[in-house]
Amino acid sequence: MNTLRFLLIFVTFIAYGYQYEETLQLVHVFLRHGSRTPELKHSYPNDIYQLEDFQPMGWGQLTNLGKQNGYQLGKLLRGQYENFLGNIYTSDIIQATSTDFDRTKMTVLLVLAGLFPPSRSQVWDEGLSWIPIPYSFEKDEEDYHLRRVTAYCPAYVKELNKVYNSLENKQLEEDYQHVFQYIEDHVGKPIRSADDVLGIFQTLYAEQHMNLTLPKWSEIVYPEPMTYLAGLQCHYENYNSILKRLFGGRMLRKVIEQMNAKIMNTIQPTGRKIYLYSGHEYNVINIMAALNVYTPHVPKYSAAVMIELHKLQDTNQFAVKVLYARDLNNEPEMLQIPGCETICEWNKFVELTKPHVPVNYTKECDSEVYLD
Ligand SMILES: *[C@@H]1O[C@H](CO)[C@@H](O)[C@H](O)[C@H]1NC(C)=O
Ligand SMILES: *[C@@H]1O[C@H](CO)[C@@H](O)[C@H](O)[C@H]1NC(C)=O
Repeated sequence: MNTLRFLLIFVTFIAYGYQYEETLQLVHVFLRHGSRTPELKHSYPNDIYQLEDFQPMGWGQLTNLGKQNGYQLGKLLRGQYENFLGNIYTSDIIQATSTDFDRTKMTVLLVLAGLFPPSRSQVWDEGLSWIPIPYSFEKDEEDYHLRRVTAYCPAYVKELNKVYNSLENKQLEEDYQHVFQYIEDHVGKPIRSADDVLGIFQTLYAEQHMNLTLPKWSEIVYPEPMTYLAGLQCHYENYNSILKRLFGGRMLRKVIEQMNAKIMNTIQPTGRKIYLYSGHEYNVINIMAALNVYTPHVPKYSAAVMIELHKLQDTNQFAVKVLYARDLNNEPEMLQIPGCETICEWNKFVELTKPHVPVNYTKECDSEVYLD
């Protein structure tokens, strides 16, 4: 009896696993770079750590731990998509894109190293288990896909300012006035908003990951309530449909176009299976927000969100699944798009995401178009 039960479980497992692998069609991955040194723009006058403590990396650069993070994320993705991707790297299979920062470019290289270790036939140096895999990036000033939209989208800035001026935020600033003041007194620069707190949070978080002992004063505000306030700032940046549409929407639109090309069999190159976008915490956040699966928090270093296009075996319909690799120690978790089952049937997915997909992004960013 027991044997039969085990056999049944085993067969079910095989069948399910088989179907799962067979149905995957295309994957989009948005990831945050690995652990890094603090950024100059988020440094503060009274920090007990200065540039010399961040050498030889310098400001805002990957640490050795950060390099491990990126490589491990690549391996995690390899484990997740082993059967789908196969063992042989071809240039068609993947398109990798980064923002114009050293740390995101280095991270994408590390992820690629973990994701595509050379198959036997692709080893070209016995001492090196690595093959070069290209990636691309737009110059920061010309990056209209992954860079922060505050740099070039006036309608977004206008809407975000409305959120900052909202009663909810004014109330928050009042409630946390003593916390802001406390931090300000210790860091030696003005702390007047959740955004200012986020900057200091980033620095403390970076130093913590470098195993530097955090200053005594920080103990009563870090991790809480600073982690809460930092998460809230990220939430504000994606607070409503207009912000979601203008921030994460630009990439959501691209993701949908690419999935649609796969469905229509017009994808170029035809062997494309995965798109990788190496960016910052906000890239991970804003795509989740546009998909309505974001809950306020700051994604950890090397966190990644995966958007999978599947073909359902029984109906031949397409469907979308969203997974979140919150950290490297746990299995990626499934995120449920509100209004959908864990797997979201394609037409339903398109319908649900429509409010966050810009039609003419350039036009919508013109601050005169949105008349309140
Ligand atoms: C920090 O300390 C922990 C515990 O000793 C260690 O496992 C980890 O490798 C250290 N990390 C760095 C970046 O040195
Ligand atoms: C989008 O809007 C801009 C500015 O209003 C306009 O110049 C452009 O032609 C529009 N693009 C499309 C594809 O309609």
